[in-house]
Amino acid sequence: MKHAEGQTGTRVADASAESLAEAARLIGEGQSVAIPTETVYGLACDATDADAVARLYAAKGRPSFNPLIVHVSGPEMARRFVEISPVALDLMARFWPGPLTLVLPLKTGAPIASLVTAGLDTLAIRCPDHPVAQALIAATGKPLAAPSANASGRISPTRAGHVLKSLEGRIPLIIDAGPTRAGLESTIVAVEGNAFRLLREGAIPAERLGLVARPAATDPRRPSAPGQLESHYAPRQPVRLDAASAGPGEYLIGFGPIAGDSNLSPAGDLTEAAARLFDLLHVAEASGKTAIAVAPVPDHGLGRAINDRLRRAAADRS
Ligand code: TXA
Ligand code: MG
Repeated sequence: MKHAEGQTGTRVADASAESLAEAARLIGEGQSVAIPTETVYGLACDATDADAVARLYAAKGRPSFNPLIVHVSGPEMARRFVEISPVALDLMARFWPGPLTLVLPLKTGAPIASLVTAGLDTLAIRCPDHPVAQALIAATGKPLAAPSANASGRISPTRAGHVLKSLEGRIPLIIDAGPTRAGLESTIVAVEGNAFRLLREGAIPAERLGLVARPAATDPRRPSAPGQLESHYAPRQPVRLDAASAGPGEYLIGFGPIAGDSNLSPAGDLTEAAARLFDLLHVAEASGKTAIAVAPVPDHGLGRAINDRLRRAAADRS
């Protein structure tokens, strides 16, 4: 179906055979479409089409040194683009489909646009556990480059409405499949020989991978993973962490017994808190209050990824 508004209109459509066919057609034409995954909504385009990737960067306003994750149907498709060591294969077998991104050596001559890797000789690749994302990979037959579907640096989208707020008029289509399940981006690990290390905390806690280390610090101007940009996931207002109560003019995001204006999880459940984190940051941003405060969240399991996102949201913007 053609959307009458042309380039400036953004259509939101429920996931149906018709909207998926339209999404596949748009991607085939070199456009970007916002799609649900199990983590956050992604802005997807054909990773083999350099012009499409350039337009995707422009729609997001993303600094082009920050490379993109490529989404594939599984290990067999991944093998067309990256070298898969036994350790990588083992991680794929344990966690794919699912929110684990592997940074692997790019195969020589792999048909991935060099803008996707920002010129690196590695590729970040993952297999999403969501029927819409998988259906689009199947329908296009393409590896899909998909960063989170938000303007660069802002709060990640866990609902179609969040995408619309951020990218309206910049993309033709958003497929709406309701709120995302995990609510936090994928965990990213770099596989090097028979070892691997954590680059970004995410929806799979590091402990489940058998890792304990914090992500390595790198030059913030050339991050090896996005969370390493100091200010990221940022609402318009300043954010104050570890708050026991709301100060004057503050919107308080509570956790457990600290009720707040809204609560990440009254029962203190970290999975529920992860799923609601970005949604409540969007709600707090839209509240009209002049500042946002957030109750303390325990720093274990998924709490580590939650606290990572909160630290970036609260970081100095200058
Ligand atoms: O859950 C997710 O991972 C979501 C959904 C949409 O799949 N995507 C996502 O993409 O979070 P994005 O672009 O917001 O964050 C991906 C990050 C990049 O910012 C980059 O820092 C890192 O992955 N990355 C990409 N390629 C890399 C590489 N070759 N080496 C190291 N890090 C890389
Ligand atoms: Mg992002």
